[in-house]
Amino acid sequence: MANYDVIVIGAGPGGYVAAIRCAQLGLKTACVEGRETLGGTCLNVGCIPSKALLHATHQLHEAEHNFADMGLKGKSPSVDWAQMKSYKDTVVGQNTAGIEFLFKKNKIDWLKGWGSIPEAGKVKVGDEVHEAKAIIVATGSEASSLPGVEVDEKIVVTSTGALELGKIPKKLVVIGAGVIGLEMGSVYKRLGSEVTVVEFLDQITPGMDAEVCKTFQRILKKQGFEFILGAAVQKVDTTKTKAKVTYKLRKDDSEHVLDADAVLVATGRKPFTDGLGLEALGVELHPRGQIKTDAHWATNVPGIYAIGDAIDGPMLAHKAEDEGMAVAEVIAGKHGHVNYGVIPGVIYTAPEVASVGATEDALKEAGRAYKVGKFPFMGNARAKAIKQAEGFVKILADAETDRILGAHIIGPGAGDLIHEVCVAMEFGASAQDLALTCHAHPTYSEAVREAALACGDGAIHV
Ligand code: FAD
Ligand code: NAI
Repeated sequence: MANYDVIVIGAGPGGYVAAIRCAQLGLKTACVEGRETLGGTCLNVGCIPSKALLHATHQLHEAEHNFADMGLKGKSPSVDWAQMKSYKDTVVGQNTAGIEFLFKKNKIDWLKGWGSIPEAGKVKVGDEVHEAKAIIVATGSEASSLPGVEVDEKIVVTSTGALELGKIPKKLVVIGAGVIGLEMGSVYKRLGSEVTVVEFLDQITPGMDAEVCKTFQRILKKQGFEFILGAAVQKVDTTKTKAKVTYKLRKDDSEHVLDADAVLVATGRKPFTDGLGLEALGVELHPRGQIKTDAHWATNVPGIYAIGDAIDGPMLAHKAEDEGMAVAEVIAGKHGHVNYGVIPGVIYTAPEVASVGATEDALKEAGRAYKVGKFPFMGNARAKAIKQAEGFVKILADAETDRILGAHIIGPGAGDLIHEVCVAMEFGASAQDLALTCHAHPTYSEAVREAALACGDGAIHV
């Protein structure tokens, strides 16, 4: 048994960042993690392995579709799937080892095992009970289940199984046209699978700017994605090597069946708080299982805090990290803060899709007077030079004050470009502030500037 100032439960982006910041602020800190490696969902089976596979398969796509045009002739690379997975595992290993190094450097004790909270101020790991003045619950999330669909992580898989399929499926059915479905769908589409996405709603990526959604769906269709929208999956039947997905179209209740070699269930994630003992402690939860916290990430039980996917809000690694830093500051008696109005969201497909702040629909609903500045990547020389000139940048600004309210980008490097707008929004900038800032030529970021110019007197290259 040991005494700590803080014990963090869970070493994902929320938990490990909280632990590092606590230690940096002089608090004696431990972090409990039940996995073999640190880094949580994100580093082990989420953000990082998916991006490694997206990168590798994007290279393949470039070789197959764009190299010849650029004068790079010859046989396209063949795919060694086992080697690609091993590359992904190496990337994951480097990152998880990096967190272990940071724990040692910051003198954070890794308490290996699954933790529970027998009472406020105590954390049990295995047979040991440790004491802590503050406990941070950062236990993350797990894939939601779907009635009538049994996941075996071989034929019917969540994202975790989709990162490890034994072979590249000839036919992949994806249930859910959200972030995971479209990212992992892109991986397999580029590897040659026929990918059919079955979505309950009448659009893909619900919640995203409607214009971006439409363009995104059109581009993905051109890449060979099949979409079945407005469809409710009834059941998935499996044999040893195949699956049949039965769905009903909501518009006429007609029933249809899809054959598949693999089925990816990507219909959302839910908080993971099993085994912590929250119920016995009286920690309040929202109806959908998220831990309730106040503005300082404190639960209703004194000394117990919660952050990341386990609480309300977007399930994103950077949101969890920001909360991790902020809660550490609060516990150390400082002023931790997260600006929930400026949390970017990125989909790492090709093209990338990124957004921050309000959508047009949200502004309309709120009755806010706004203006739109839009610029297509077709007018961006750099995007044309790399044959990725599809998509656009859209900036929404207040009609009267010109203050930036949101931005939506689909196009090359969107996931990096969005941060220029994030910084501008943090500083309360106007669209004109962006428009008057010199942007290097030729860069994709010129498209952001042009969209800002379009909020005023007009873009130049249209
Ligand atoms: P987690 O990362 O889930 O970590 C929680 C940790 O707590 C886990 O390691 C778990 O083992 C541990 N734990 C749980 N209970 C206990 C216990 N009782 N005792 C000890 N340990 C415990 N987000 C992005 O922003 N960008 C992306 O590109 C992105 N890609 C993703 C791709 C996929 C396929 C998936 C599934 C998710 C992706 N996400 C992405 C979401 C991102 O992974 C999560 O938002 C993020 O990991 C949440 O961090 P967290 O610290 O709250 O929880
Ligand atoms: P999601 O919420 O993004 O998408 C789920 C989709 O499934 C929605 O379109 C929804 O309408 C649909 N759906 C729900 N029930 C359905 C049903 N019964 N039949 C058919 N469709 C149904 O969830 P997803 O893709 O599982 O991702 C989970 C979380 O992981 C997200 O919150 C996301 O933020 C995070 N993530 C983030 C990434 C990123 O930032 N690039 C990458 C991957 C995941």
